[in-house]
Amino acid sequence: MFGGLRTATHVLTAHTRAALNSPNLYRNISSARPLHAHFSSATHRPSHVLQRLEILGRQRRSFNAILGSRSPLLLGIEPRFFSANRSAHANEQAHPLPTLSPPSVGRWLLLSSALVFGIIVVGGVTRLTESGLSISEWRPITGILPPLSQAQWDEEFRKYQATPEFKILNHSMTLDDFKRIFYMEWAHRVMGRVVGVAFVLPLAYFAFTRKLTRGLTTRLSAMALLIGFQGFLGWYMVQSGLSEDLLDQPGAVPRVSQYRLAAHLGTAVVLYGAMLSTGLAVLRDWKFAIQGKWSGLLAKDLEPVLKNPIVRKFRRRAWLLTSLVFLTAMSGAFVAGLDAGLVYNEFPLMGGRLAPPTDELMNPAYAKQADKSDLWWRNLLENPSTVQFDHRVLAVTTYLSTGLLYTSTLAPAMRAALPALTRRLAVTAFALANVQVALGITTLLYLVPVPLAAAHQAGSIALLSSMIALCLSLRAPGGATKLWRQAITAKRKP
Ligand code: HEM
Repeated sequence: MFGGLRTATHVLTAHTRAALNSPNLYRNISSARPLHAHFSSATHRPSHVLQRLEILGRQRRSFNAILGSRSPLLLGIEPRFFSANRSAHANEQAHPLPTLSPPSVGRWLLLSSALVFGIIVVGGVTRLTESGLSISEWRPITGILPPLSQAQWDEEFRKYQATPEFKILNHSMTLDDFKRIFYMEWAHRVMGRVVGVAFVLPLAYFAFTRKLTRGLTTRLSAMALLIGFQGFLGWYMVQSGLSEDLLDQPGAVPRVSQYRLAAHLGTAVVLYGAMLSTGLAVLRDWKFAIQGKWSGLLAKDLEPVLKNPIVRKFRRRAWLLTSLVFLTAMSGAFVAGLDAGLVYNEFPLMGGRLAPPTDELMNPAYAKQADKSDLWWRNLLENPSTVQFDHRVLAVTTYLSTGLLYTSTLAPAMRAALPALTRRLAVTAFALANVQVALGITTLLYLVPVPLAAAHQAGSIALLSSMIALCLSLRAPGGATKLWRQAITAKRKP
Protein backbone atom coordinates (compact mmCIF):
# COMPACT_ATOMS: atom_id res chain seq x y z
CA MET A 1 0.00 0.00 0.00
CA PHE A 2 2.72 2.44 0.92
CA GLY A 3 4.52 1.62 -2.27
CA GLY A 4 1.34 2.68 -4.03
CA LEU A 5 1.31 5.92 -2.07
CA ARG A 6 4.85 6.53 -3.16
CA THR A 7 3.97 5.98 -6.78
CA ALA A 8 1.01 8.27 -6.50
CA THR A 9 2.79 11.16 -4.82
CA HIS A 10 5.65 11.56 -7.21
CA VAL A 11 3.50 13.35 -9.76
CA LEU A 12 2.17 15.98 -7.37
CA THR A 13 2.86 19.62 -8.00
CA ALA A 14 2.13 22.64 -5.84
CA HIS A 15 -1.13 23.03 -7.65
CA THR A 16 -2.33 19.53 -7.11
CA ARG A 17 -1.17 19.62 -3.51
CA ALA A 18 -3.48 22.50 -2.89
CA ALA A 19 -6.27 20.49 -4.41
CA LEU A 20 -5.42 17.56 -2.24
CA ASN A 21 -5.49 19.59 0.92
CA SER A 22 -8.87 20.86 0.05
CA PRO A 23 -11.52 19.82 2.58
CA ASN A 24 -13.57 18.63 -0.41
CA LEU A 25 -11.11 15.89 -1.19
CA TYR A 26 -12.86 13.18 0.69
CA ARG A 27 -16.22 14.25 -0.48
CA ASN A 28 -14.90 14.12 -4.01
CA ILE A 29 -13.44 10.69 -3.58
CA SER A 30 -16.36 9.13 -1.88
CA SER A 31 -18.93 10.71 -4.14
CA ALA A 32 -20.21 8.84 -7.14
CA ARG A 33 -18.41 11.20 -9.52
CA PRO A 34 -14.81 10.27 -10.22
CA LEU A 35 -12.23 12.73 -8.93
CA HIS A 36 -11.01 13.80 -12.36
CA ALA A 37 -14.49 14.94 -13.17
CA HIS A 38 -14.13 17.56 -10.44
CA PHE A 39 -10.77 18.80 -11.59
CA SER A 40 -10.24 18.23 -15.24
CA SER A 41 -12.02 21.21 -16.65
CA ALA A 42 -10.66 23.64 -14.07
CA THR A 43 -7.05 22.53 -14.06
CA HIS A 44 -6.46 21.06 -17.50
CA ARG A 45 -4.22 18.52 -15.85
CA PRO A 46 -3.41 15.51 -17.95
CA SER A 47 -5.87 12.82 -17.08
CA HIS A 48 -3.20 10.36 -15.87
CA VAL A 49 -2.23 12.88 -13.20
CA LEU A 50 -5.79 13.15 -12.10
CA GLN A 51 -6.20 9.41 -12.05
CA ARG A 52 -3.17 9.24 -9.83
CA LEU A 53 -4.77 11.81 -7.57
CA GLU A 54 -7.68 9.47 -7.20
CA ILE A 55 -5.34 6.65 -6.37
CA LEU A 56 -3.69 8.88 -3.80
CA GLY A 57 -7.03 9.71 -2.30
CA ARG A 58 -7.83 6.04 -1.97
CA GLN A 59 -4.40 5.38 -0.53
CA ARG A 60 -4.97 8.03 2.07
CA ARG A 61 -8.26 6.56 2.98
CA SER A 62 -6.83 3.08 3.43
CA PHE A 63 -3.87 4.56 5.28
CA ASN A 64 -6.32 6.22 7.59
CA ALA A 65 -8.03 2.91 8.12
CA ILE A 66 -4.72 1.51 9.34
CA LEU A 67 -4.00 4.39 11.64
CA GLY A 68 -7.48 4.39 13.16
CA SER A 69 -8.13 7.33 15.42
CA ARG A 70 -4.89 9.05 14.46
CA SER A 71 -5.82 9.14 10.84
CA PRO A 72 -6.99 12.75 10.58
CA LEU A 73 -3.45 13.86 11.31
CA LEU A 74 -2.38 12.52 8.02
CA LEU A 75 -5.07 13.94 5.84
CA GLY A 76 -2.94 16.78 4.63
CA ILE A 77 0.62 15.49 4.68
CA GLU A 78 2.37 17.66 2.21
CA PRO A 79 5.00 16.16 0.01
CA ARG A 80 7.12 19.30 0.22
CA PHE A 81 8.52 17.93 3.46
CA PHE A 82 10.35 15.50 1.30
CA SER A 83 11.77 17.87 -1.22
CA ALA A 84 15.48 17.43 -1.80
CA ASN A 85 15.95 21.15 -2.43
CA ARG A 86 13.19 22.94 -0.65
CA SER A 87 14.20 26.48 -1.36
CA ALA A 88 14.58 26.06 -5.10
CA HIS A 89 11.77 23.72 -5.91
CA ALA A 90 9.32 23.86 -3.07
CA ASN A 91 6.49 24.88 -5.28
CA GLU A 92 7.37 22.84 -8.30
CA GLN A 93 8.71 19.58 -7.11
CA ALA A 94 7.34 17.05 -4.81
CA HIS A 95 8.99 13.98 -3.43
CA PRO A 96 7.42 10.81 -2.27
CA LEU A 97 6.99 9.55 1.22
CA PRO A 98 9.23 6.53 1.19
CA THR A 99 7.86 3.09 1.86
CA LEU A 100 7.52 2.24 5.53
CA SER A 101 7.10 -1.47 6.18
CA PRO A 102 4.02 -2.22 8.30
CA PRO A 103 4.06 -4.29 11.52
CA SER A 104 2.87 -7.42 9.68
CA VAL A 105 6.35 -7.58 8.07
CA GLY A 106 8.00 -7.31 11.50
CA ARG A 107 5.74 -9.97 13.02
CA TRP A 108 6.41 -12.36 10.15
CA LEU A 109 10.17 -11.90 10.62
CA LEU A 110 9.89 -12.55 14.37
CA LEU A 111 7.87 -15.69 13.65
CA SER A 112 10.53 -16.81 11.16
CA SER A 113 13.26 -16.22 13.75
CA ALA A 114 11.23 -18.30 16.26
CA LEU A 115 11.09 -21.13 13.70
CA VAL A 116 14.86 -20.89 13.21
CA PHE A 117 15.32 -20.95 17.00
CA GLY A 118 13.19 -24.11 17.05
CA ILE A 119 15.19 -25.79 14.31
CA ILE A 120 18.47 -24.94 16.05
CA VAL A 121 17.23 -26.75 19.18
CA VAL A 122 15.88 -29.71 17.16
CA GLY A 123 19.23 -29.84 15.29
CA GLY A 124 21.06 -29.95 18.63
CA VAL A 125 18.87 -32.81 19.88
CA THR A 126 19.40 -34.62 16.56
CA ARG A 127 23.14 -34.46 17.07
CA LEU A 128 22.99 -35.31 20.78
CA THR A 129 20.82 -38.39 20.16
CA GLU A 130 23.25 -39.42 17.40
CA SER A 131 20.46 -39.40 14.84
CA GLY A 132 22.06 -37.05 12.31
CA LEU A 133 23.64 -39.74 10.11
CA SER A 134 20.56 -41.95 9.84
CA ILE A 135 19.41 -40.65 6.44
CA SER A 136 22.17 -41.31 3.97
CA GLU A 137 20.71 -39.38 1.00
CA TRP A 138 19.72 -35.82 0.23
CA ARG A 139 16.41 -35.60 -1.61
CA PRO A 140 15.16 -32.02 -1.21
CA ILE A 141 11.69 -32.70 -2.66
CA THR A 142 10.85 -36.40 -2.30
CA GLY A 143 12.61 -36.64 1.07
CA ILE A 144 9.62 -34.92 2.64
CA LEU A 145 7.89 -38.32 2.89
CA PRO A 146 9.24 -40.91 5.32
CA PRO A 147 9.19 -44.58 4.29
CA LEU A 148 5.54 -45.67 4.19
CA SER A 149 5.67 -49.43 3.70
CA GLN A 150 7.64 -52.23 5.31
CA ALA A 151 9.56 -52.65 2.07
CA GLN A 152 10.55 -48.96 2.08
CA TRP A 153 11.69 -49.17 5.71
CA ASP A 154 13.77 -52.25 4.94
CA GLU A 155 15.35 -50.44 2.01
CA GLU A 156 16.14 -47.35 4.12
CA PHE A 157 17.59 -49.50 6.90
CA ARG A 158 19.70 -51.40 4.36
CA LYS A 159 21.21 -48.07 3.20
CA TYR A 160 21.98 -47.12 6.80
CA GLN A 161 23.63 -50.50 7.39
CA ALA A 162 26.14 -49.59 4.70
CA THR A 163 27.30 -46.47 6.58
CA PRO A 164 30.41 -46.33 8.78
CA GLU A 165 28.25 -45.31 11.78
CA PHE A 166 26.30 -48.57 11.60
CA LYS A 167 29.41 -50.67 10.92
CA ILE A 168 31.54 -49.15 13.69
CA LEU A 169 29.03 -48.16 16.38
CA ASN A 170 25.53 -49.50 15.79
CA HIS A 171 25.94 -52.98 14.29
CA SER A 172 23.46 -54.43 16.80
CA MET A 173 20.76 -51.83 16.02
CA THR A 174 17.25 -53.15 15.26
CA LEU A 175 14.79 -51.68 12.75
CA ASP A 176 12.77 -50.15 15.60
CA ASP A 177 15.87 -48.42 16.99
CA PHE A 178 16.64 -47.21 13.49
CA LYS A 179 13.14 -45.78 13.09
CA ARG A 180 13.68 -43.65 16.21
CA ILE A 181 16.86 -42.00 14.93
CA PHE A 182 15.43 -41.77 11.41
CA TYR A 183 12.36 -39.83 12.58
CA MET A 184 14.54 -37.41 14.57
CA GLU A 185 16.66 -36.52 11.54
CA TRP A 186 13.61 -36.52 9.28
CA ALA A 187 11.81 -34.03 11.59
CA HIS A 188 14.89 -31.78 11.46
CA ARG A 189 14.92 -31.86 7.66
CA VAL A 190 11.15 -31.29 7.38
CA MET A 191 11.46 -28.30 9.71
CA GLY A 192 14.14 -26.93 7.40
CA ARG A 193 11.66 -27.02 4.53
CA VAL A 194 8.96 -25.42 6.70
CA VAL A 195 11.35 -22.58 7.58
CA GLY A 196 12.07 -22.09 3.86
CA VAL A 197 8.43 -22.04 2.75
CA ALA A 198 7.29 -19.90 5.71
CA PHE A 199 9.91 -17.37 4.71
CA VAL A 200 9.82 -17.34 0.94
CA LEU A 201 6.02 -17.22 0.38
CA PRO A 202 5.36 -14.21 2.65
CA LEU A 203 8.49 -12.55 1.24
CA ALA A 204 7.06 -12.85 -2.26
CA TYR A 205 3.68 -11.53 -1.03
CA PHE A 206 5.18 -8.52 0.77
CA ALA A 207 7.45 -7.71 -2.16
CA PHE A 208 4.57 -8.02 -4.62
CA THR A 209 2.30 -5.79 -2.53
CA ARG A 210 5.17 -3.27 -2.17
CA LYS A 211 5.42 -3.40 1.58
CA LEU A 212 9.19 -3.61 1.59
CA THR A 213 11.76 -0.91 1.08
CA ARG A 214 14.36 -1.64 -1.56
CA GLY A 215 17.01 -2.19 1.11
CA LEU A 216 14.74 -4.58 2.94
CA THR A 217 13.93 -6.49 -0.24
CA THR A 218 17.63 -7.07 -0.90
CA ARG A 219 18.32 -8.02 2.67
CA LEU A 220 15.41 -10.43 2.93
CA SER A 221 16.26 -11.99 -0.44
CA ALA A 222 19.78 -12.60 0.85
CA MET A 223 18.24 -14.32 3.89
CA ALA A 224 16.11 -16.51 1.60
CA LEU A 225 19.27 -17.55 -0.27
CA LEU A 226 20.96 -18.25 3.04
CA ILE A 227 18.12 -20.61 4.01
CA GLY A 228 18.73 -22.55 0.77
CA PHE A 229 22.47 -22.53 1.38
CA GLN A 230 21.88 -23.79 4.92
CA GLY A 231 20.07 -26.85 3.52
CA PHE A 232 23.06 -27.58 1.31
CA LEU A 233 25.47 -26.99 4.22
CA GLY A 234 23.50 -29.46 6.35
CA TRP A 235 23.93 -32.13 3.71
CA TYR A 236 27.63 -31.24 3.22
CA MET A 237 28.05 -31.71 7.00
CA VAL A 238 26.25 -35.08 7.01
CA GLN A 239 28.42 -36.27 4.10
CA SER A 240 31.54 -35.85 6.23
CA GLY A 241 30.14 -38.41 8.69
CA LEU A 242 29.30 -40.90 5.94
CA SER A 243 32.79 -41.01 4.41
CA GLU A 244 34.06 -44.55 3.87
CA ASP A 245 37.58 -43.33 4.80
CA LEU A 246 36.56 -43.57 8.45
CA LEU A 247 36.59 -47.36 8.13
CA ASP A 248 40.32 -47.31 7.32
CA GLN A 249 41.30 -45.21 10.34
CA PRO A 250 41.94 -47.26 13.46
CA GLY A 251 39.92 -45.94 16.42
CA ALA A 252 38.01 -43.44 14.23
CA VAL A 253 34.66 -42.27 15.60
CA PRO A 254 31.98 -41.80 12.94
CA ARG A 255 30.90 -38.21 13.42
CA VAL A 256 30.60 -35.16 11.25
CA SER A 257 33.47 -32.73 10.77
CA GLN A 258 33.55 -30.16 13.57
CA TYR A 259 34.32 -27.49 10.95
CA ARG A 260 31.17 -28.27 9.00
CA LEU A 261 29.11 -28.53 12.19
CA ALA A 262 30.32 -25.09 13.27
CA ALA A 263 29.59 -23.68 9.79
CA HIS A 264 26.06 -25.17 9.86
CA LEU A 265 25.35 -23.88 13.36
CA GLY A 266 27.02 -20.53 12.59
CA THR A 267 24.87 -19.97 9.49
CA ALA A 268 21.74 -20.84 11.46
CA VAL A 269 22.70 -18.37 14.18
CA VAL A 270 23.49 -15.63 11.63
CA LEU A 271 20.13 -16.25 9.96
CA TYR A 272 18.36 -16.16 13.29
CA GLY A 273 20.12 -12.94 14.32
CA ALA A 274 19.35 -11.31 10.96
CA MET A 275 15.65 -12.22 11.13
CA LEU A 276 15.31 -11.15 14.74
CA SER A 277 17.12 -7.85 14.34
CA THR A 278 15.32 -6.96 11.09
CA GLY A 279 11.93 -7.89 12.56
CA LEU A 280 12.55 -5.83 15.69
CA ALA A 281 13.81 -2.90 13.60
CA VAL A 282 10.67 -2.93 11.40
CA LEU A 283 8.35 -2.96 14.44
CA ARG A 284 10.29 -0.28 16.24
CA ASP A 285 10.48 1.94 13.14
CA TRP A 286 6.71 1.71 12.78
CA LYS A 287 6.15 2.54 16.45
CA PHE A 288 8.49 5.51 16.19
CA ALA A 289 6.84 6.85 13.04
CA ILE A 290 3.26 6.43 14.20
CA GLN A 291 3.43 6.76 17.99
CA GLY A 292 6.65 8.74 18.37
CA LYS A 293 8.08 6.30 20.93
CA TRP A 294 11.48 4.63 21.01
CA SER A 295 12.89 2.41 23.77
CA GLY A 296 10.59 4.05 26.30
CA LEU A 297 11.58 7.55 25.16
CA LEU A 298 9.55 10.14 23.33
CA ALA A 299 10.76 10.82 19.81
CA LYS A 300 11.82 14.36 20.65
CA ASP A 301 14.15 13.12 23.42
CA LEU A 302 15.80 10.45 21.32
CA GLU A 303 18.43 12.39 19.41
CA PRO A 304 20.26 13.84 22.44
CA VAL A 305 20.33 10.36 24.01
CA LEU A 306 21.80 8.71 20.93
CA LYS A 307 24.37 11.47 20.51
CA ASN A 308 25.49 11.33 24.13
CA PRO A 309 29.15 10.12 24.12
CA ILE A 310 28.66 7.72 27.04
CA VAL A 311 25.67 6.14 25.31
CA ARG A 312 27.69 5.79 22.10
CA LYS A 313 30.50 4.12 24.02
CA PHE A 314 28.00 1.82 25.72
CA ARG A 315 26.52 0.89 22.33
CA ARG A 316 29.97 0.05 20.91
CA ARG A 317 30.66 -2.19 23.90
CA ALA A 318 27.29 -3.86 23.55
CA TRP A 319 28.00 -4.71 19.88
CA LEU A 320 31.45 -6.05 20.83
CA LEU A 321 29.88 -8.20 23.52
CA THR A 322 27.30 -9.49 21.02
CA SER A 323 30.18 -10.59 18.76
CA LEU A 324 31.84 -12.25 21.74
CA VAL A 325 28.66 -14.20 22.53
CA PHE A 326 28.62 -15.37 18.90
CA LEU A 327 32.29 -16.37 19.05
CA THR A 328 31.75 -18.28 22.30
CA ALA A 329 28.80 -20.10 20.73
CA MET A 330 30.99 -21.03 17.76
CA SER A 331 33.70 -22.36 20.07
CA GLY A 332 30.90 -24.39 21.73
CA ALA A 333 30.10 -25.90 18.33
CA PHE A 334 33.70 -27.15 18.17
CA VAL A 335 33.32 -28.64 21.67
CA ALA A 336 30.15 -30.39 20.50
CA GLY A 337 31.68 -31.47 17.17
CA LEU A 338 34.70 -33.10 18.82
CA ASP A 339 32.74 -34.52 21.79
CA ALA A 340 35.16 -32.46 23.85
CA GLY A 341 32.57 -32.27 26.65
CA LEU A 342 33.50 -35.85 27.51
CA VAL A 343 36.98 -34.91 28.76
CA TYR A 344 37.85 -32.97 31.92
CA ASN A 345 34.42 -33.28 33.53
CA GLU A 346 35.15 -30.86 36.34
CA PHE A 347 34.98 -27.10 36.81
CA PRO A 348 36.76 -24.69 37.25
CA LEU A 349 39.82 -26.97 37.25
CA MET A 350 41.01 -29.21 34.46
CA GLY A 351 42.92 -32.18 35.86
CA GLY A 352 43.50 -30.39 39.17
CA ARG A 353 44.86 -27.18 37.55
CA LEU A 354 43.34 -24.12 35.94
CA ALA A 355 44.67 -25.17 32.54
CA PRO A 356 46.05 -28.45 31.17
CA PRO A 357 49.84 -28.56 30.62
CA THR A 358 51.13 -26.64 27.60
CA ASP A 359 52.38 -29.75 25.82
CA GLU A 360 48.87 -31.13 25.99
CA LEU A 361 47.25 -27.90 24.82
CA MET A 362 49.75 -27.57 21.96
CA ASN A 363 50.24 -31.24 21.25
CA PRO A 364 52.65 -31.67 18.28
CA ALA A 365 50.73 -34.80 17.22
CA TYR A 366 47.97 -32.58 15.79
CA ALA A 367 50.31 -30.69 13.45
CA LYS A 368 50.29 -32.06 9.90
CA GLN A 369 52.92 -29.82 8.30
CA ALA A 370 56.55 -30.99 8.46
CA ASP A 371 57.64 -27.62 9.85
CA LYS A 372 54.76 -27.65 12.42
CA SER A 373 53.57 -24.28 11.19
CA ASP A 374 49.96 -25.47 11.69
CA LEU A 375 50.57 -26.47 15.32
CA TRP A 376 48.60 -23.56 16.78
CA TRP A 377 45.48 -23.52 14.73
CA ARG A 378 45.17 -27.28 14.50
CA ASN A 379 45.31 -27.60 18.28
CA LEU A 380 42.87 -24.71 18.69
CA LEU A 381 40.35 -26.36 16.37
CA GLU A 382 41.08 -30.09 16.51
CA ASN A 383 42.47 -30.99 19.95
CA PRO A 384 39.52 -31.71 22.34
CA SER A 385 41.41 -30.52 25.46
CA THR A 386 42.41 -27.22 23.83
CA VAL A 387 38.97 -26.74 22.31
CA GLN A 388 37.30 -27.23 25.69
CA PHE A 389 39.82 -24.93 27.36
CA ASP A 390 39.17 -22.21 24.75
CA HIS A 391 35.44 -22.55 25.25
CA ARG A 392 35.86 -22.12 29.00
CA VAL A 393 38.06 -19.04 28.56
CA LEU A 394 35.67 -17.46 26.05
CA ALA A 395 32.63 -18.37 28.17
CA VAL A 396 34.11 -16.88 31.35
CA THR A 397 35.16 -13.74 29.43
CA THR A 398 31.63 -13.44 28.00
CA TYR A 399 30.13 -13.94 31.43
CA LEU A 400 32.32 -11.31 33.09
CA SER A 401 31.79 -8.84 30.23
CA THR A 402 28.02 -9.23 30.49
CA GLY A 403 28.31 -8.59 34.23
CA LEU A 404 30.46 -5.52 33.58
CA LEU A 405 28.05 -4.17 31.00
CA TYR A 406 25.21 -4.61 33.45
CA THR A 407 27.06 -2.98 36.38
CA SER A 408 28.02 -0.07 34.14
CA THR A 409 24.30 0.69 33.73
CA LEU A 410 24.06 1.21 37.50
CA ALA A 411 26.42 4.21 37.49
CA PRO A 412 24.35 7.40 38.04
CA ALA A 413 25.48 9.08 34.81
CA MET A 414 24.69 5.99 32.77
CA ARG A 415 21.36 5.46 34.54
CA ALA A 416 20.37 8.96 33.59
CA ALA A 417 21.57 8.63 30.00
CA LEU A 418 20.30 5.22 28.93
CA PRO A 419 16.71 4.50 27.87
CA ALA A 420 14.79 2.37 30.39
CA LEU A 421 14.45 -0.47 27.88
CA THR A 422 18.23 -0.68 27.40
CA ARG A 423 18.77 -0.95 31.16
CA ARG A 424 16.17 -3.69 31.44
CA LEU A 425 17.80 -5.61 28.61
CA ALA A 426 21.22 -5.33 30.26
CA VAL A 427 19.78 -7.03 33.38
CA THR A 428 18.14 -9.69 31.17
CA ALA A 429 21.41 -10.38 29.33
CA PHE A 430 23.31 -10.77 32.59
CA ALA A 431 20.62 -13.06 34.03
CA LEU A 432 20.74 -15.21 30.88
CA ALA A 433 24.56 -15.32 31.04
CA ASN A 434 24.26 -16.72 34.59
CA VAL A 435 21.82 -19.40 33.43
CA GLN A 436 24.01 -20.20 30.43
CA VAL A 437 27.17 -20.67 32.49
CA ALA A 438 25.26 -22.81 35.02
CA LEU A 439 23.91 -24.96 32.17
CA GLY A 440 27.38 -25.26 30.60
CA ILE A 441 28.96 -26.37 33.86
CA THR A 442 26.25 -28.92 34.67
CA THR A 443 26.38 -30.24 31.07
CA LEU A 444 30.09 -30.85 31.61
CA LEU A 445 29.82 -32.34 35.11
CA TYR A 446 27.08 -34.78 34.05
CA LEU A 447 28.87 -35.91 30.86
CA VAL A 448 26.63 -34.16 28.35
CA PRO A 449 23.11 -35.48 29.02
CA VAL A 450 20.75 -34.65 26.13
CA PRO A 451 18.27 -32.35 27.97
CA LEU A 452 21.01 -30.27 29.63
CA ALA A 453 23.13 -29.99 26.49
CA ALA A 454 20.05 -29.03 24.42
CA ALA A 455 19.08 -26.41 27.02
CA HIS A 456 22.67 -25.12 26.95
CA GLN A 457 22.49 -24.70 23.19
CA ALA A 458 19.09 -22.95 23.41
CA GLY A 459 20.49 -20.75 26.19
CA SER A 460 23.22 -19.45 23.91
CA ILE A 461 20.58 -18.27 21.41
CA ALA A 462 18.51 -16.69 24.20
CA LEU A 463 21.59 -14.80 25.41
CA LEU A 464 22.40 -13.68 21.89
CA SER A 465 18.79 -12.52 21.43
CA SER A 466 18.90 -10.37 24.54
CA MET A 467 22.13 -8.76 23.32
CA ILE A 468 20.68 -8.12 19.86
CA ALA A 469 17.59 -6.52 21.42
CA LEU A 470 19.82 -4.43 23.67
CA CYS A 471 21.90 -3.16 20.75
CA LEU A 472 18.75 -2.39 18.76
CA SER A 473 17.31 -0.37 21.63
CA LEU A 474 20.10 2.11 20.90
CA ARG A 475 19.79 2.06 17.13
CA ALA A 476 18.74 5.29 15.43
CA PRO A 477 15.43 5.10 13.53
CA GLY A 478 15.75 4.55 9.78
CA GLY A 479 15.66 7.44 7.30
CA ALA A 480 12.16 6.60 6.01
CA THR A 481 10.90 6.38 9.58
CA LYS A 482 12.18 9.85 10.37
CA LEU A 483 10.46 11.29 7.31
CA TRP A 484 7.15 9.74 8.29
CA ARG A 485 7.55 10.99 11.83
CA GLN A 486 8.40 14.45 10.55
CA ALA A 487 5.31 14.49 8.36
CA ILE A 488 2.99 13.32 11.11
CA THR A 489 4.43 15.80 13.63
CA ALA A 490 4.19 18.68 11.17
CA LYS A 491 0.55 17.91 10.57
CA ARG A 492 -0.18 17.91 14.28
CA LYS A 493 1.12 21.44 14.67
CA PRO A 494 -1.68 24.00 14.56
C1 HEM B 1 28.33 -17.50 27.77
C2 HEM B 1 28.62 -18.72 27.94
C3 HEM B 1 28.45 -19.87 26.96
C4 HEM B 1 27.96 -19.93 25.68
C5 HEM B 1 27.40 -18.79 24.84
C6 HEM B 1 28.04 -21.30 25.26
C7 HEM B 1 27.62 -21.80 24.02
C8 HEM B 1 27.71 -23.11 23.62
C9 HEM B 1 27.23 -23.65 22.38
C10 HEM B 1 26.49 -22.87 21.31
C11 HEM B 1 27.51 -24.96 22.33
C12 HEM B 1 27.22 -25.89 21.16
C13 HEM B 1 26.08 -26.78 21.45
C14 HEM B 1 25.80 -27.74 20.33
O1 HEM B 1 26.17 -27.53 19.18
O2 HEM B 1 25.16 -28.74 20.62
C15 HEM B 1 28.18 -25.28 23.56
C16 HEM B 1 28.62 -26.53 23.89
C17 HEM B 1 29.17 -26.85 25.10
N1 HEM B 1 29.46 -25.97 26.13
FE1 HEM B 1 29.03 -24.03 26.22
N2 HEM B 1 28.58 -22.03 26.28
C18 HEM B 1 28.86 -21.19 27.32
C19 HEM B 1 29.41 -21.54 28.53
C20 HEM B 1 29.89 -22.77 28.89
C21 HEM B 1 30.54 -23.12 30.12
C22 HEM B 1 30.89 -22.15 31.26
C23 HEM B 1 30.81 -24.44 30.07
C24 HEM B 1 31.50 -25.26 31.11
C25 HEM B 1 32.75 -25.36 31.12
C26 HEM B 1 30.34 -24.94 28.80
C27 HEM B 1 30.42 -26.25 28.36
C28 HEM B 1 29.99 -26.73 27.15
C29 HEM B 1 30.05 -28.10 26.76
C30 HEM B 1 30.55 -29.26 27.57
C31 HEM B 1 29.52 -28.18 25.47
C32 HEM B 1 29.37 -29.42 24.58
C33 HEM B 1 27.97 -29.94 24.73
C34 HEM B 1 27.64 -30.92 23.64
O3 HEM B 1 28.44 -31.79 23.34
O4 HEM B 1 26.53 -30.80 23.13
N3 HEM B 1 29.77 -23.90 28.11
N4 HEM B 1 28.28 -24.15 24.33
